[in-house]
Amino acid sequence: MTLIKYLANLGYGSRRDVMALVAARRVTLLEGTAVRDGDLWSHDALLVDGAPLDPPPGTLLMLHKPVGHVCSTRDVPPLIYDLLPPRFLQRTPVMAAVGRLDRDTSGLLLLTDDGALNHRLTSPRAHVAKTYCAMLAHPLHGDEVSRFASGTLRLSGESTPLAPAALVIDDETSVRLTVTEGRYHQVRRMFAAVGNHVVQLHRVAIGALELGDLGAGCWREVTPAERSMLAPT
Ligand code: URA
Repeated sequence: MTLIKYLANLGYGSRRDVMALVAARRVTLLEGTAVRDGDLWSHDALLVDGAPLDPPPGTLLMLHKPVGHVCSTRDVPPLIYDLLPPRFLQRTPVMAAVGRLDRDTSGLLLLTDDGALNHRLTSPRAHVAKTYCAMLAHPLHGDEVSRFASGTLRLSGESTPLAPAALVIDDETSVRLTVTEGRYHQVRRMFAAVGNHVVQLHRVAIGALELGDLGAGCWREVTPAERSMLAPT
């Protein structure tokens, strides 16, 4: 791929914009030599305006989504894209969220420009585990662990029972729930189905990949070793 097309695909502007960047000697090698279209180059050796390039194509990012931000490219702001470099929305393919978190849910959100990877992680057949910490409005009744694990619980308005889910109780209003499906508002509706109400919801892990101490609103690349932690259950 030509340098111009590569940088345009990474969101640095239209091909014409990138040609202007190159002509203005703003695209350089690490040691400062200006790069011309047609020169040999590699992703890691390029700078634009002195800064390393954004992550290469096929990248996977983790974002600590704060409460209030929307997982959409177009909606009532603030959007998750307001937390990322604006170029990420201009990339081809676009950097898309892997599934969604509700506006009121915080925690681990993955984004990728790799459509096949996105599909693999979100496909209902993949059964990728997602773990949430929830604060509840009312004390637990005591039968929730077995009802969630039963594989027979139904959400309101749905006929197909939920796959078994693992509930770990921290105290009577604070729990950790692992689900392997991605139904609409699933966690909130699961607690509604057992007569409770979720007042705070935070995703802490996808597969064995944990959010860790990444600050709210911050993002970073997922390492190759961490990618293997996303394997389906
Ligand atoms: N379940 C929910 O209810 N909301 C989310 O954002 C994620 C899972």
